[in-house]
Amino acid sequence: MFTSAMISVSAPGKLILCGEHAVVYGRPAIAAPLSDVRAYARIEPGAPGSGLRFIAPDLGETWTAAGQPKHPLSELALAALARLGQRETDLIVQLRSDIPIASGMGSGAAIGTALVRALATHAGVELAPEEVAALVYASERRFHGTPSGIDNTVVAHERAIWFERREPAPLIETLTIAAPLLLVVGDTGVRSATRLPVGAVREGWRADPRRYEALFDQVGELVTRARAALATGDLPLLGALLNANQALLEQIGVSSPDLERLVAAARAAGALGAKLSGAGWGGVMLALVTPAARLAVESALREAGAARVLAATVPATAGA
Ligand code: MEV
Repeated sequence: MFTSAMISVSAPGKLILCGEHAVVYGRPAIAAPLSDVRAYARIEPGAPGSGLRFIAPDLGETWTAAGQPKHPLSELALAALARLGQRETDLIVQLRSDIPIASGMGSGAAIGTALVRALATHAGVELAPEEVAALVYASERRFHGTPSGIDNTVVAHERAIWFERREPAPLIETLTIAAPLLLVVGDTGVRSATRLPVGAVREGWRADPRRYEALFDQVGELVTRARAALATGDLPLLGALLNANQALLEQIGVSSPDLERLVAAARAAGALGAKLSGAGWGGVMLALVTPAARLAVESALREAGAARVLAATVPATAGA
């Protein structure tokens, strides 16, 4: 049974530390939650007969599941309700997000995760992170082509992960992080839907599979070395690996002049390493910094035209 109380839950954004794009083709990637930048879902009972009603000011939209059953969030909510053993009912779902859409910070996965969690909480059902991730993944698959599943996984688990796309289920491992990471994120302000660069990479891969497979192999090797650098707390090595990942992403064809300007500014201001993060062509880049270099990197990014700059930490953890 649904509770009659108002439910409010949230889900974090995410950053891909290294391995984006190659992860779609089975290579490993490392991602971390962005816990200070979140999406929120609030659910309260609606008037009898009003059905499932969505209010999403950040999307500039208000709609009902009955009126727009093919809306991605209607479909996700209906799939979640089916999994929860609930029938469509009279609910007002309010969705809000601090995560800019199409910025590489996982806004779609965060909104979907917050929605599923809110419906589950409202229904009094506890869903494991894997189940939440699976529902959001099915939705992302329908609307974004060929997602690897890393975004919905790191958002649902809300911890740094090692991720490999596998069938029938991905390999998800907890990382050993010997020294906390301080990251400065610079947003180009250019919005680029994930499916566009992902689609372009697929076309490139189809046209020249050997070249792309070789690039993906190099990314995979570097991600493996990054895992070892995290485990030993070797941040200068990790920074160098992030720089190498950026060079490969440029060859893969998903960087942009805006991203490269921010990456260069961060490195010149003392970052240990910097690269684009997420799908590319726009969105965000990240820089690994020491506490001493943080302010210089933040102001260098602003001076280089970043629309928004934020800092994030990845805490030290003992891995599996
Ligand atoms: C997007 O955050 C990461 C990509 O690798 C796409 C995906 O893994 O689905 C570009």
